[in-house]
Amino acid sequence: MNRFIIEGGNRLHGELRIPGAKNAVLPILAATILNRGTSIIKNCPNLEDVKTMQEILSSLGLEVQRDNQSIIVCGKNLSANAIPESLAGKMRSSIVLMGAVLGRIGEIYISYPGGCAIGPRPIDMHLSSLRKMGAEIDDLYKGILHCKVKRFQGTEILLDYPSVGATENIMLAACLADGETIIRNAAKEPEIVDLQNFLQELGVEIYGAGTGVIHINGRREIEKDITYSVIPDRIVAGTYMACVAATGGELVLTGIDYEPVSSIAYLLRNCGVSIERLNSKNMRIKSDLNLKAIEVIRTSPYPGFPTDMQPQFVSVLSKASGTSVVIETVFENRYGYVEQLMRMGADITVRERVAVIKGVKRLTGAFLDASDLRGGAALTIAALSAEGTSIINNVMHIDRGYEAFEKSLSMVGAKIKRE
Ligand code: EPZ
Repeated sequence: MNRFIIEGGNRLHGELRIPGAKNAVLPILAATILNRGTSIIKNCPNLEDVKTMQEILSSLGLEVQRDNQSIIVCGKNLSANAIPESLAGKMRSSIVLMGAVLGRIGEIYISYPGGCAIGPRPIDMHLSSLRKMGAEIDDLYKGILHCKVKRFQGTEILLDYPSVGATENIMLAACLADGETIIRNAAKEPEIVDLQNFLQELGVEIYGAGTGVIHINGRREIEKDITYSVIPDRIVAGTYMACVAATGGELVLTGIDYEPVSSIAYLLRNCGVSIERLNSKNMRIKSDLNLKAIEVIRTSPYPGFPTDMQPQFVSVLSKASGTSVVIETVFENRYGYVEQLMRMGADITVRERVAVIKGVKRLTGAFLDASDLRGGAALTIAALSAEGTSIINNVMHIDRGYEAFEKSLSMVGAKIKRE
């Protein structure tokens, strides 16, 4: 078991380049299944979930290899239709394989997806949408789904909620469907736009991503050799912004557009952090540790404040002067890390989806356990800003979303090592 040992109280200074987005590369890798040609995907972060997706593609018979930050998928031979349970169960994104594999070969055996423990995470919208497009889906024994379709039929789908995964699944299913599919109340996240851009490169007629209504005209077949570069990770950028806010110092983040992190920047400014746009891809974050509470923060789908930044913000606010209220509207159970922050001296009360944070003067180092990805990032932030040494166990959760987290942080002055 890997753990981080962090000596708190060191300001951050320097420059960090933001790597490719986990939540963009995963559906894009799933989309390579649709392509009989070769897809070269650049700017792929080296993360556990990305490795799992590579293994899944290989298990389906595709040729997959990594070359530094690129993943090359040759989609000629898709010879299997069963996703190994041990792989599908490791991450939530495995569910979007349904739309892609069914679209390409008409049959898939897949177990319910895994992922972070942040609430029940049902897949009803995925299943009802694919059924509406013509799939027959049976729940076999032990939670294995068997799905079949002759060919997806284009149709109109109104989502009850702008689910990111359901939107991606329908987009993938629609690419090889017969006729036009329209997704209404679609998710608007930048990762959805990135998936659309990739599909357009493949020659799919698709438009509207980012607006809430997406149109896709299905094709008979896709066979194209393409090279595509994944967008930078807005949540990794936001996490480093939160690190500086909490530790003090000055950090320049490079390679990241401002718009996808604008809600994060807005709230950090309200907290008293300075954020300066240097040019279209670089920004400077400065904190003098004079943090102010924020009256209310509510997580919501893009362009609202992202749930994936909620834990990191709670860490920052735990040392801000005054009382902040955070309302988690996306996931039912995303405060698992709070108990650990309280061990460090934070004053936080959680009632269902609402957290009330009374800022304290200092946090102190403690023995901590990361129980999920963003919760683990939040503990790292708290430990960096605390007095004394903290040990964070189970950092494999953090490794799922942050490439070489401790190395990047060490480079800019943090005292953090892996053991
Ligand atoms: C994606 O998860 C991200 N994961 C999550 O990132 C992110 O938190 C989430 O979108 C919201 O932005 C990936 O992209 C791999 P949803 P996803 O479907 O697609 C409910 C991280 O930390 N729902 O938009 O699973 C669901 O329970 C992770 O990187 C249904 O009820 O999110 C949740 O309450 C964690 N039925 C809400 O919708 C469904 O069929 C939003 O989920 C589908 C979803």
